[in-house]
Amino acid sequence: MYPSHRPRRLRRNAAVRRLVSETTVEPRHLVLPVFVREGITEPVGISSMPGVVQHTRDSLRKAAVEAVEAGVGGLMLFGVPQRHDAVGSGATDPNGILNLALRDVAAEVGDDTVIMADTCLDEFTDHGHCGVLDSRGNVDNDSTLRRYAEMALAQAEAGAHVLGPSGMMDGQVEAIRESLDANGFLDTSIMAYSAKYGSAFYGPFREAVDSQLQGDRKTYQQDPANGREALRETALDLDEGADMVMVKPAMSFLDVLGRVAESSSVPVAAYQVSGEYSMIEAAVGNGWLDRRGTVLESLTSIRRAGADIVLTYWAVEAAKWLSGTS
Ligand code: PBG
Repeated sequence: MYPSHRPRRLRRNAAVRRLVSETTVEPRHLVLPVFVREGITEPVGISSMPGVVQHTRDSLRKAAVEAVEAGVGGLMLFGVPQRHDAVGSGATDPNGILNLALRDVAAEVGDDTVIMADTCLDEFTDHGHCGVLDSRGNVDNDSTLRRYAEMALAQAEAGAHVLGPSGMMDGQVEAIRESLDANGFLDTSIMAYSAKYGSAFYGPFREAVDSQLQGDRKTYQQDPANGREALRETALDLDEGADMVMVKPAMSFLDVLGRVAESSSVPVAAYQVSGEYSMIEAAVGNGWLDRRGTVLESLTSIRRAGADIVLTYWAVEAAKWLSGTS
């Protein structure tokens, strides 16, 4: 009558559980996304992402030092410019806010961490799309590639170690790789947002970057219903020269993450996006969820599904928990 198999034996105390635990989350696995805004003198809180701010150049430098001291694996920078235009001029201007901030962070912590840049136009365009538009108002894939090629150079020159093309244009990895190689940036890596879905979970990010977007990105980002398509996108990006690939968002696409991780021989990243952050923070704020437990479980699930690298707004806080310094 008694169970002949007793899996609970391996859970009987903390020492056994520690011995048999499969998945680890370490500070080095975590990348902190940060926002830097032009023309402000104090950091500005993002109301839909409690605890996250738009930085001044100065506060970003300090945040970068704090993140590196906490042991995170890297930083991903997003710029919020004062002015927007049709082609996103601020993205390629060496004095554009993102390029200036990359220089600042590279000077401050460039030898001690991995500095990543969002290589996408949406923060800089007045229509809020990730590319430039044709005469009918549609996103023009190939003219956008020319802008990405220029933007990549500006970011590499500013000191970015890794570029993160997040616009989901066809051929974007190849266009960026060619541009980098032709200009001697042979060591600048590309982390391709290979399987980026048109997700409702990006909502709070729109406030974070003061997005001008009307409408949606469904003509370039993937349909959340499609899994196999992610494998095709990943294979194309690898063929075009991606050094790492990413699945985004993370928690509603863990199955996709698992499949991409199984079928790729490069490091795989997952982006726990703004909405994933905000929904947990909101529940925590209401007293409905335990913060530390929920955050660490969410990060563990993303690692267990196959992510080598996790981009998360909790990177610094989680790193401190994990290293026992808070
Ligand atoms: C586009 C970009 C987006 C995010 C990262 N890069 C927004 C979008 O595609 O609509 C979302 C990140 C987040 O929600 O945390 N440059």
